[in-house]
Amino acid sequence: MRDHQDLPITPDFDPWPMVEARSVEAQDGALRITWADGEVSLHHPLLLAENDPADGVLHPLSRETLLSPTDFPEDLAVTGATVLSNGAIEVAWSHGRPPSQFHPGWLRGNAWFGEAGDDINPVLWTAKELPEPPSFDGPAALENPALFRDWLTALRDYGVARLTGLPNRDGLLVEIGEQIGTIRASNFGKTFTLEVKDDPDSNAYTSHPLPGHIDLPTRECSPGLQVLFCRENSTTGGEGTYADAYRIAEDIRAEEPEHFAALAEINWTYNNRAKTTSYKATGPVVDLDAEGRITSVRYNTWLRAPLVAPLEDQDRAYKSYRAFAKRAEDPRYQMLVTYRAGDLFAFDNRRALHGRRGYNAQGGARFIEGFYSDRDDLYSAIRMCDRQLATEV
Ligand SMILES: [Fe+2]
Repeated sequence: MRDHQDLPITPDFDPWPMVEARSVEAQDGALRITWADGEVSLHHPLLLAENDPADGVLHPLSRETLLSPTDFPEDLAVTGATVLSNGAIEVAWSHGRPPSQFHPGWLRGNAWFGEAGDDINPVLWTAKELPEPPSFDGPAALENPALFRDWLTALRDYGVARLTGLPNRDGLLVEIGEQIGTIRASNFGKTFTLEVKDDPDSNAYTSHPLPGHIDLPTRECSPGLQVLFCRENSTTGGEGTYADAYRIAEDIRAEEPEHFAALAEINWTYNNRAKTTSYKATGPVVDLDAEGRITSVRYNTWLRAPLVAPLEDQDRAYKSYRAFAKRAEDPRYQMLVTYRAGDLFAFDNRRALHGRRGYNAQGGARFIEGFYSDRDDLYSAIRMCDRQLATEV
């Protein structure tokens, strides 16, 4: 895949491949392209106009449009089209507008062929299908863009992925966070260390067992990404658990639909119990998009605030929450992992429920540090790896 220098620029920085158009024409004011492989696509005149790479429409450096929808006639139409000798597609316009040229790979890559391309397709799992997280050699993955992409892609698809064999070095965790994207600071700091505190502002800072949960359900948008780096562990117990909350929710949808409806409909409020902050956020346990697909879960037993609702709604809410908890605590759904020195677990904090067994804090040293980030940072990092690897071919 190689960008052709003599082709028009595109409204992005992606390396679009050269694709050959067999024929082009105007059709009812739109651009119709018949591609060399026989596929046919139609392109709306206003979409073409606002993405015109011409000076004055697209800024040549930012690659963002400079115009507003009101700068174009509502009935703007494509009146003709030509394939130029370099493969670019030239479009003639109504209303006396000068012709525009487009990169054929960009046109093809943004065309409608019956369904929208989507690179986010979660692979759901129970402990049987995924007894341990997809794992990658840590030092190698941080050096090798293809392996780094494989790690991040596994994280995107399965909701949890591990690096192993990392050195115990101050600053390494932040470097990894910044290699992915940006670290999202919280009231626990830019990074946090899971240790037993004398005056804990979270159950995480005790040696008690923690049932599976997401962190910061107390935020309007809980972090989409969390990373835990085990730098040292000579304690006994404290194994980690990870469970796919999407799998749990889909099984409830199939087997206990009345509970699924309540989980998706009834809002719980979550609040933290710190002495110096008071965060509150409200949402259902299971978030759905317009097509009914699960996009997020908000589940954390010890951060739920009292449910202020009619008694019958409380009854539905508690029954459905209990049904969710029953599965979340079922070993069938739980991957059980040992935190070894050098292991780094990255997980989708709005999908993978993480928990831990209790441990003996007096029995050795346990040093796990972590940070939050967002899904956007993960997805951007994957696309940047793809871009880098595509331009290296
Ligand atoms: Fe947590």
